[in-house]
Amino acid sequence: MTTIPQQLSPQKLLKTGDANPSESQFRRKLRNLVRRDQVFDFLKPQYHPLLDTRHNILLYIEGVTKSFDGFKAIDDLNLYIREGELRCIIGPNGAGKTTMMDIITGKTRPDEGQVWLGSNLNLLNMDEAEIANAGIGRKFQKPTVFECLTVWHNLELAMAGERGVFDVFRARLNGAQRDEINRVLEQVGLCNQASLLAGNLSHGQKQWLEIGMLLMQKPKLLLVDEPVAGMTHQEMDRTAALLTSLAGEHSVVVVEHDMDFVRSIASTVSVLHQGHVLAEGSMSEIQSNPQVKQVYLGE
Ligand SMILES: Nc1ncnc2c1ncn2[C@@H]1O[C@H](COP(=O)(O)OP(=O)(O)OP(=O)(O)O)[C@@H](O)[C@H]1O
Ligand SMILES: [Mg+2]
Repeated sequence: MTTIPQQLSPQKLLKTGDANPSESQFRRKLRNLVRRDQVFDFLKPQYHPLLDTRHNILLYIEGVTKSFDGFKAIDDLNLYIREGELRCIIGPNGAGKTTMMDIITGKTRPDEGQVWLGSNLNLLNMDEAEIANAGIGRKFQKPTVFECLTVWHNLELAMAGERGVFDVFRARLNGAQRDEINRVLEQVGLCNQASLLAGNLSHGQKQWLEIGMLLMQKPKLLLVDEPVAGMTHQEMDRTAALLTSLAGEHSVVVVEHDMDFVRSIASTVSVLHQGHVLAEGSMSEIQSNPQVKQVYLGE
């Protein structure tokens, strides 16, 4: 049985007004640690505390224009993403889908227009890091996981709140942090692969791990560019289920060319063409839209 040394007994630790400063410092730390009225930083959502989504709109893109050498890649683009919605963006090559994501994440600055997160965070006044901290996570097409680390360590590294590479090997996780990693492992379907090196995962599993790494940051908005390129049919089905399960708690914007996949996640679809929204609606509405048929579906 473990015995508490006399000098660390709970009564003594919680006693106030000690003359010994290091001991009282220690008591204060311990008292803070067991407080029930606080939420630890790593459990807090990372999105901006001032984010105001009372109007149920998480992302506003209004009148955005961006030219490259005189060519309008984005042309008077208006797009509104509701809280918790799963939106698919489709459109021909060069329609401006990736440029739109670059603008949302601060990688590219538009020439004109407004981009807001909630009704009060002006993303055009923020840099890329600030935008990420405000709650926008982006998944690029190519998975960017640390192949020489295990799946678990990849998630640990991505954990909200600073955990550097060396902490992963040195500093122990507490129970709540482990629970959080297990929750994300379950969400992305990689519980059985937790101790595998990420380099040994299949292409699809790497994509899910990367989505898991984004989830560790507790984003409000997830931007996912062509998630199923190169996946098997089975992996596509699992990705569809994963993205659908994330909606509600997160808003998810998926850019994808694969029509079967878009159909399978059955969300609102926006068709981008020459830098602006040509049509918006359910997949069946989109498919029967004559303009969309002409420019994109080629039917
Ligand atoms: N940095 C840049 N400099 C010059 N032109 C660019 C730049 N980024 C994008 N463009 C141009 O803007 C247009 C839109 O490109 P974008 O990559 O956004 O299209 P997309 O809809 O993502 O296409 P895809 O379906 O092929 O991925 C293209 O004509 C592209 O060549
Ligand atoms: Mg693109």
